[in-house]
Amino acid sequence: MGDQAKLSAGGADYDYPVLKGSVGPDVVDIRKLYGQTGMFTFDPGFTSTASCESALTYIDGDEGVLLHRGYPIGQLAENSSFMEVSYLLLNGELPNKEELEKFEFTISRHTMLHEQLATFYRGFRRDAHPMAIMCGVVGALSAFYHDSTDISDPEHRKISSHRLIAKMPTIAAMAYKYSIGQPFLYPDNNLSYTGNFLRMTFGVPAEEYEVIPAVEKAMDRIFILHADHEQNASTSTVRLAGSSGANPFACIAAGIACLWGPAHGGANEAALNMLKEIGTPDKIPHYIERAKDKNDPFRLMGFGHRVYKNYDPRATVMQSTVREVFEALKVDDPLFETALRLEEIALNDPYFVEKKLFPNVDFYSGIILSAIGFPTTMFTVLFALARTVGWVAQWNEMISDPGQKIGRPRQLYTGPTQRDYVPLSQR
Ligand code: ACO
Repeated sequence: MGDQAKLSAGGADYDYPVLKGSVGPDVVDIRKLYGQTGMFTFDPGFTSTASCESALTYIDGDEGVLLHRGYPIGQLAENSSFMEVSYLLLNGELPNKEELEKFEFTISRHTMLHEQLATFYRGFRRDAHPMAIMCGVVGALSAFYHDSTDISDPEHRKISSHRLIAKMPTIAAMAYKYSIGQPFLYPDNNLSYTGNFLRMTFGVPAEEYEVIPAVEKAMDRIFILHADHEQNASTSTVRLAGSSGANPFACIAAGIACLWGPAHGGANEAALNMLKEIGTPDKIPHYIERAKDKNDPFRLMGFGHRVYKNYDPRATVMQSTVREVFEALKVDDPLFETALRLEEIALNDPYFVEKKLFPNVDFYSGIILSAIGFPTTMFTVLFALARTVGWVAQWNEMISDPGQKIGRPRQLYTGPTQRDYVPLSQR
């Protein structure tokens, strides 16, 4: 018998198996707890609860480590491509040359959207937030591609996964084009996944679009950095939605909705807006004081993370990417100086030190994306585009697990106990 954890409750002792992963904290398997004790555990926000078993991504937040299928994010960001990382997440191993070419070819053959979807866009107001459009259009994909929604069929799951990864850049670029009143551009499958996305976003039919290699590389790297992040809020949302047997397009739409929030995917938009509000480095101390004031709702956006209590390894890569993009585009945004200074001041302030609040991936990404030409409203859309591969890989992993059950958390009820209905005339 392996390790056991003991629980004493109501005068009785219970033993629960301790399960070991390949690395990281052990978990106490409490699946029998309710049956044996009549009690639930209470863990709002899942701060101590492993919701599933997964072999995709590992994070050690105290050490600032992020591994995809065992490979450190820094090595992937430096040497790999988003397509290669996507293959890795979906299949468990890095592809060889042939496998990569085949995968890229397959993805490129799914980049077009059903023509009727263009009419969908026209139903949105021009000033609609592109995330609102993403939620709607991605959810609507199930109405167009229902030939691949039998989730019990691995081949269907594979096709719908490829479709989602391939169509997301087209959907995102169209959301942008719609908001600025420019014509949609069809995909160009001679370009890379990322080059094609840049062209569909920034190109116009009247002119040849030239993909700038440094921008393509930076964008691809941003996609790699956002590809997966184990059981975060949006991924857990995708898993929970998928646990009922919902089709993958609906599940990913649910993930997009969750990602939209400012505490999650919306943080890079919020971080850049905050930097703009701060403006110059001399205003930083005022905002630092506000962030520390418990009576002030202001927080330093792009700072702090539920899991990382050390430097977010993705933020390190982002910081160096800012310089590369600035050099390639010959831009010099003073907000970068403000960001560097803010980071320095915060990292030397006891409040942030004691609470282990470090810059996260979103702190610098907004500066890069804005230099490339994206409006802030597109930031979360780019995150959703990149995270789609993580979502579908996690969803596939869950559906393939024979022990998979519908997700159904319990609660600690604190409302009124049973009482009798009072007729309206007596209230
Ligand atoms: N600025 C100021 N204080 C902060 C910040 C911040 N950015 N983040 C946390 N704190 C403080 C809290 O007030 C709290 O203080 P207390 O213990 O005195 O009450 C303490 O640090 C712990 O914070 P929690 O909110 O309990 O930590 P949690 O793990 O729940 O939150 C979160 C993590 C939501 C990311 C938080 O740090 C935050 O709101 N950061 C800003 C938003 C942001 O950048 N989100 C991006 C996350 S990365 C991503 O989604 C890709």
